[in-house]
Amino acid sequence: MARLQTQVGIIGAGPAGLMLSHLLHLHGIHSVVLEARSRQYCEERIRAGVLEQGSVDMLRNAGVAARLDKEGMRHEGIELGLNRQRHRIPLAELTNGKAVTVYGQHEVVKDLIARLLADGVDIRFECGTVSLHNIDSPQPFLRRSRDGSEDEIHCDYIAGCDGFHGISRPSLPQSALRTFERSYPFAWLGILAEAPPSRDELLYMHHERGFALYSMRSPSITRLYLQCKPDDDIAHWSDDRIWSELHTRLGCTDGWKPLEGHILQKGITGMRSHVTEPMQHGRVFLAGDAAHIVPPTGAKGMNLALADVYVLTEALSAFYKRNTSTQLDQYSAVCLRRVWKAQRFSWWMTSLLHRFDDATAFDQRRQLAELDYITSSRTAAASLAENYVGLPMELH
Ligand code: APR
Ligand code: PHB
Repeated sequence: MARLQTQVGIIGAGPAGLMLSHLLHLHGIHSVVLEARSRQYCEERIRAGVLEQGSVDMLRNAGVAARLDKEGMRHEGIELGLNRQRHRIPLAELTNGKAVTVYGQHEVVKDLIARLLADGVDIRFECGTVSLHNIDSPQPFLRRSRDGSEDEIHCDYIAGCDGFHGISRPSLPQSALRTFERSYPFAWLGILAEAPPSRDELLYMHHERGFALYSMRSPSITRLYLQCKPDDDIAHWSDDRIWSELHTRLGCTDGWKPLEGHILQKGITGMRSHVTEPMQHGRVFLAGDAAHIVPPTGAKGMNLALADVYVLTEALSAFYKRNTSTQLDQYSAVCLRRVWKAQRFSWWMTSLLHRFDDATAFDQRRQLAELDYITSSRTAAASLAENYVGLPMELH
C-alpha cells in the first residue's frame, strides 16, 4: 500500500475539482485529484455551455483562457420568444458591458486537464473506489482501492468535487446536513446537431406545447433542447420527430426556424433543484454539483462550481499563508448566498418559460403577462440580465 501526503485531496475532475487544483497550484498549494472515470470520458462528456462574465474573467486571470478567447462565442444578448415572436434582451447594454460566452463545459475541462498535466499536478484518472476517513480530525485521508491494491492520500483538507452522484456528500454524517429540494414535472431532451447556427444569440422560446431552447457550440454545431416528459424515453424520439417538434416550437412568424443537420448526439436529462447545507463538515468541503444542482434554464451550473472553488481557494490560501481559518469557517455561508440567488433565478427562468400540465387558465395568462412584462420593460429586463451575466463574485 502506497502512502501519499498532500495538502488538499480533491475528489472529482469536473470543472470544480480541476479548477480548484489549478488555482491551488497557482497559490503554491499542493493537491492530488482522484477521478473515477477516464480522461477521455471527462473530456468528451457533453454538458453545459454558457460562461458568465465572472467565470470568463476567472479563467483568464488563471491563465487558462487561450482557447476560450479564440473559440468561445461572446454573446451580448439573448432572445426570449413568445407567441412565435422573438424579443432581444440586450445583456451588455443593461449591465454596463457584461456578456456571457458560449463555450462547452468539456472544452473547459480539456483546457484545465492539459494545463494541470503540463504543470505536473497529480491527477489520477480511473482511480478506483474512493473512501473518506478521519474527516473530523486534523489528519483526514482518502483511500482508493483498485484491482486489489490500495493507496492512502493523507491531507490537511478534502474537497468533495465529485458531482451530484459522488461519494463525498453521502460520506458526511447525514444528521449534520440539511437538504432542500424541488423536482420539476418535466425534463429536457437535448441534441447536438451538425448545422451552423442560424441565429447569433440563444433563443429561449415559450410555446404552448412546451419550452424549446436554441443554443450553439461552434460555428458549425448547434445545440437544441425540447421540454419533454420526465419519464420520456429517447427511443420514442426519432430524428424526424425531434426536428418536427423543434420547427413547431421554435418557428417564428417572420419565417425563421432552426436549420436541420445530422444529429450527433441526443439524450434526456431530468431537472431538479437541490442544495445541501452546510457545504462543509469537519475537514471536508463540498463544491459544485456535489453540494447543489440547478435546473439548466438559467445556465448557472458550471458557473456556480467555479465560484465555489474561487471562494475555497482564497480561504485555503489564507490558511496556508496567514495561518487563519476564519475564511474556511465562512466558506459555506459565503457560497450559499450566491447559490441561493442562482437557485432563485434558475427556478424563476424555469417557471417563466415551461409548460406546466397542471397550470390553470389563470396561471397561463399570468405566465404570458410576465413574459410580456420582461420583454417590454427595461427595468424588468435589467434584472434578468444582471442575473444571467452573473452576480458579482463575493468573498464574504
Ligand atoms: N470518485 C471519484 N470521482 C468521482 C466519484 C467518485 N466516487 N463520483 C463522481 N466522480 C467524478 C465524476 O466522474 C466527474 O468527473 O467527479 C466529477 C464531477 O464532475 P461534474 O459532475 O462535472 O461536477 P462539477 O465539477 O461540480 O461541475 C458542475 O457539471 O453537471 C454539470 O451543470 C453542471 O455545469 C455543472 C457542472
Ligand atoms: C447549452 O448550450 O447547453 C445551454 C445554454 C443555455 C442554457 C442551458 C444550456 O440555459
